[in-house]
Parts: sequence; structure tokens; C-alpha cells
Amino acid sequence: MTNRPVEMSDVALMPRCSGAERGAALPLVTVDDLSIYFQSRRGTVHAVDGASFEIGVGQTVGLVGETGCGKSVTARSFLGLVPSPPAVHAGGRIVFRPRQECPSCHASDCQGGGQAEYDLTKLTPREFRKVRGEQIAMIFQDPSLALNPVLTIGQQVAEVFHQHRAEMMLADAGLSTDDPLLRRAASDRSSRLERAVLAAPGLRRRRNRLQKVVDEYVAQALAETRIANPRKIMNSYPHELSGGMKQRVMIAQALACAPDLLIADEPTTALDVTIQAHILDLIHELQERHHTAVLYISHDLSLVRDVCDQVVVMYAGQVVEQGPTTRLFDNPLHPYARGLLGAVPSGGQPRGGLSAIEGMVPELVNPSSQCRFHTRCAHASAVCAAHTPTLTAHDPPDHRAACFLYEHAETLGLPAEDMPSRNRSAS
Ligand SMILES: Nc1ncnc2c1ncn2[C@@H]1O[C@H](COP(=O)(O)OP(=O)(O)O)[C@@H](O)[C@H]1O
Ligand code: SF4
Ligand SMILES: [Mg+2]
Repeated sequence: MTNRPVEMSDVALMPRCSGAERGAALPLVTVDDLSIYFQSRRGTVHAVDGASFEIGVGQTVGLVGETGCGKSVTARSFLGLVPSPPAVHAGGRIVFRPRQECPSCHASDCQGGGQAEYDLTKLTPREFRKVRGEQIAMIFQDPSLALNPVLTIGQQVAEVFHQHRAEMMLADAGLSTDDPLLRRAASDRSSRLERAVLAAPGLRRRRNRLQKVVDEYVAQALAETRIANPRKIMNSYPHELSGGMKQRVMIAQALACAPDLLIADEPTTALDVTIQAHILDLIHELQERHHTAVLYISHDLSLVRDVCDQVVVMYAGQVVEQGPTTRLFDNPLHPYARGLLGAVPSGGQPRGGLSAIEGMVPELVNPSSQCRFHTRCAHASAVCAAHTPTLTAHDPPDHRAACFLYEHAETLGLPAEDMPSRNRSAS
């Protein structure tokens, strides 16, 4: 965890070029003790409570847990998409380090490019608009809700380029930002030059040239997602497309500017099984091509095992375990993670049911100091009902869990007889 306070204005470039260092797992996002609460009539909902985890550059990280555990609120806070009020940022940081191109080798995955750093919890709405789509993008469970029904697919994908690639498109159309005619068209200072050209009643030739470039950008973004006949799809409306096609459009939109991080919140839950596999393959292929990190939010452990490098397990607003996927699946530490894995069906059965863990996620209103899993845990003891376990590194140190089973009474200064025992049957 970094201890230095960081802000958007505090961009620190740290040149340390070495081609040999390329590919090392640099941290891209460090979620550090993040808390997001909601004020409600019943009290304060601790939706995310002291969550800490990391996502490395180009890594695929699975964020798993039952419904209501705080996965979506955590991920949406990366993009300033948690409505405030009622949400309150109650503490912690999300340190984001977008990649910079290395001046020596021009690769964006070389450490020589340095990394800017800023705390996403401190960005203004205006600053978020720059980050969204360009550096961090998100795809949602239900693309029908994310796409605007009254705009064509082309208009919606073009929006990302209008936001982030305006100057590049003007240059590709052979238009100069110094052209006095263009400047006059954009006399309304609030409109962007490139948008103003497209809307101007005169300037027909310039407008046509620019529109051709915009269409080219959009068609290419759609083609990347292997959509057949992208030029035709551009003129369609969302209701004319299948669920799988709409999800491809969202992926095209999300990856149009090759962001550093793609957040995929249950991206395949609304799709049938064969389409799910195609969409996952597609995300993986585009991720490799653009060296994009992916945060997969899912309750489907089988999916996470197949596609993720790291797994973060959330329970009742807290991270209870994080580790490399193979390690966590081979040797889950937290009884909740064990319960989830016990619920992963093997060969030929449907994926991802969580019914093996009895009971429900507790209410997150004004929680007291205790392990939030204690009402469902077969190992629970007096200590678990009275103290909150902290996320602690185990062997190997990148495997961390928050559970008193792995703590020593004397280190914590607690009575040994009140500690949980590993000998009891697992939940
Ligand atoms: N706008 C809101 N107002 C009040 N509580 C909310 C709001 N959004 C989410 N929550 C609460 O935050 C908790 C975490 O929700 P969420 O992150 O959506 O869970 P998950 O994605 O893991 O299913 C839940 O208890 C949910 O009820
Ligand atoms: S043993 Fe105690 S601390 Fe560990 S999960 Fe069970 S209740 Fe929580
Ligand atoms: Mg969710």
C-alpha cells in the first residue's frame, strides 16, 4: 500500500526505463481501506467497509461474492458512478496509475514510461469524464439498460471518440484546428470544435470528410468485436439487436480507446451459455491485444477460475480473502471462500450456484465489531462474535485472508480458549 497522499494535480512521473523490466506486474489500481456507506432511514449501510486489494497492469482479477456483498459499489466507485447522496465516501483511497508511453522504446507496458498516480475518490465529475472510456471503462450485466434506445449504435459508439479522440479525428480528416472557418463554426465556446464542424450548416465538404473519419473509427471499433457487417449495425437501433450483439457493442464502446482497465460487472449473466463463451473469448482476445487489465465481477466461481490471475473474495462489504487464482482454488483459507468453492459444481453440471452455504448475507446497517461471517461459520467462536479479523498475509505473502483461524491468541492479546479451532468441521 502506498502511504503518500495522491491527487489528480499531483501527477508524479517516475522515469525508470529498462526494457528488461517490461512485463513486470506493476500495480495499476490499489484499493486501500476503501469505505463507502449509504445513509438510509434505518441507519448507515456499510456497503463497502475497509476494502483493500490490488490490480496489476494487464492482470485479470475476479471480484467474487454473493449478491449484496459490495462488489458493484466497489467497482462503480472507480468511475464515480455511485450516487452521492445517498452514498458517502467514508474513507480510504483508490490509487490509479494509468500507463504512460515510454519515451525510449514507445511501449506503454515499459516501466520507463513512468506512471501518473491519482486518487480516484478525489476526482471531480469533470476529471472523471476524462478518465471514463479513455483510461477505465465498464461493461454491465444488461446491455439493454446501458444503451440509449433512441440513438443508433453508430451514434453511441462515436460518442466515445468525440469525448477522447476529437483532435485525432480532425487531423485524420486533414482539418486544422487553426482553420478560421472551423473556428468561426465553433464560436460557441461550450461546443467542441470537432462537434461544431459536424453540426455546422456550411462547411459541407469539411463536414463530410470528418463524418467519413468518424464512421471509419466506429466501424473499426465494431469490427474488433467480430460483429459481422459493422456498417449496417452502425445504423441499427439497440432494439434491433440480440442480447449477444448488444454486449459486443458495449465491449466495442468500452475498448474503443484501449483503456488501462476494463470493469466487467457480471458481463455474461444475462446471456445464454454459448454466447457467454464467445463474449468471454472476445474480452480475453481484446485484453491481450490492448494489454488491458480486467476486473471481472461475478458470482460464478467456475468462470473466475478459467479467466482470472487473481481472485478477491468479498463478504458483507469486506474483502475476506485475496490470492493468486490457482493458490486460492487449491488452498482456500477463509471458511466463506471454502464454502463458495464447495458450491462450484464439477464437470457437466450448471455453473456457479452458491446454495452450499446456509444462511444469508447479514444486514449491513450499523454493523458492530465482529466477523460478519460468524453467524454462518462452522468454526465461529467467542472471539469471532466480538472482534473484526483483519486481512493478513499468509504463506505465500500474496495470499491474504481475514480470519481468526490463522491468528495467534497471544499476538492479538485475546484469550486462547475463545479462539476458533481448525478441527471443527468446515462450513
Ligand atoms: N443506492 C443505494 N442505496 C442504499 N443502499 C445501497 C445502494 N446501492 C447499493 N446499496 C447496498 O449496498 C450493498 C452492496 O450492494 P452491491 O455492491 O450492489 O452488491 P453486489 O454487487 O455484491 O451484489 C447492498 O447491501 C445494497 O443494498
Ligand atoms: S473462524 Fe471466525 S473469523 Fe474465521 S470466518 Fe469463521 S467466524 Fe469469521
Ligand atoms: Mg452487483
